[in-house]
Amino acid sequence: MVQEVCLFINGNWMTTRQKEKVINKATGKAIAEFFLAGPAEVDAAVAAALEASRTKKLSPYSRFEILKKASELLMDRQSELASIISQEVGKNIKEAMGEVARASQTLLISAEESKRIKGEIVPIAGSPGNENRRAWTIRVPRGVVCAITPFNFPLNLTCHKIGPAIAAGNTVVYKPASATPIIGAKLCEIMAEAGLPAGCLNMVMGPGALVGDALARDKRIAYYSFTGSSEVGIKLKTSVGLRPISLELGANSPTIVHSDADINAAAEACVRFAFANAGQVCISVQRVYVHRPVYDAFCRRAVSLTGTLKVGDPLEPANDLGSMISENESARAEEWIHEAVAGGAEILIGGRRRGPFLEPTILTNVLPEMKCVCNEIFAPVFCIIAYDTIDEAIALANDSRYGLQAGVFTNSLEIACRCAEGLEAGGVIINDVSTFRTDLMPYGGWKESGTGKEGPRYAIEEMTEEKVVVIKL
Ligand code: SIN
Repeated sequence: MVQEVCLFINGNWMTTRQKEKVINKATGKAIAEFFLAGPAEVDAAVAAALEASRTKKLSPYSRFEILKKASELLMDRQSELASIISQEVGKNIKEAMGEVARASQTLLISAEESKRIKGEIVPIAGSPGNENRRAWTIRVPRGVVCAITPFNFPLNLTCHKIGPAIAAGNTVVYKPASATPIIGAKLCEIMAEAGLPAGCLNMVMGPGALVGDALARDKRIAYYSFTGSSEVGIKLKTSVGLRPISLELGANSPTIVHSDADINAAAEACVRFAFANAGQVCISVQRVYVHRPVYDAFCRRAVSLTGTLKVGDPLEPANDLGSMISENESARAEEWIHEAVAGGAEILIGGRRRGPFLEPTILTNVLPEMKCVCNEIFAPVFCIIAYDTIDEAIALANDSRYGLQAGVFTNSLEIACRCAEGLEAGGVIINDVSTFRTDLMPYGGWKESGTGKEGPRYAIEEMTEEKVVVIKL
């Protein structure tokens, strides 16, 4: 019998009349079916979350215990969960195992942060006439948080929303990507097993145009946390009006390789992280700016490393790259490669496609206006571009409508500091690629890469209201 993935509302697994298939992205075969929510189910999920936010207030220590337990349960089930991620996403099994381990850390960090939510003393007596008043701030939960998550890290990026939301004392309505509902249901199951009361986490699946829009319109939701495309994020921001929102959107991340750096180490990191998760990472290496004196050496090394990578069955640990999320997406990326080549770009390696599998591809001789440079490619493709001065490299890197993270390889403290200060991005990673992320650090973009910060401590600040308390003595 085909596995069925139900909605999770007020602690109950619910079915509806409409179902859709969950596809194994590498084989194209159906592995499950999931039930689609309509307006009635969205309404019930938000009502349950609102009721729970009023009646099931958990102490900070209870939140700590629940999140810590959930973090442990994720690791107990690491292999099972990784296999689901691998099939739903097409992600290589080694990377899927890594994602489960990261998700466990994200929940553990959220657990720890739940005990550290605090305000500050306001020195109100310092203003004339207020000598007999005292004041301080407290941080209180906002209420219902709506978490809308993408397919590329369906477990960890969900934990980045649910973890801090629960840690801060909120309740959640969660909409997973339609491509990855099974892992979403497993997370709900684990949170319930860890002791999270009914109604504190609810899951509804369905198309953005229906379920996403119903969530955006629902005024009972106090806060939105969305990861996905810039297009959808900008639309969501417009719909939610004055309510606060965190948006983790796209990027065409730059990495600068200066001639004083370890060129082999830089090439190894670029190749590893441009192709991780088949390039479907918001901070994937996409534009590599290489100092002209080491340009040829860098290209040679990058090509020879890429030539050793194996593409194929994501469940086979000997492979390096799995499939992309769909054949449509790999065909779209292939088309961008062909367009670039027609405009004068050169393929150093790769460029061919078999169904949803795209070969790891390196392009040179690209122009700034080519889609593979100025748009987010979200595929296993990167471009190498030569520069002469570090100011030119910074200007080229900043010539983007995005600004999520940037990488810089250099041995010069001065160049490192100039790049750290001059690059227009939410994070600058020195001596590593733009793709570096560890789950406790602040993470979030500038420009069309979004607004707001993830990382449990920073997300908790956004998911709580700061209130001032003033006492007249
Ligand atoms: C993303 O693709 O937005 C997240 C990348 C990561 O968490 O490593």
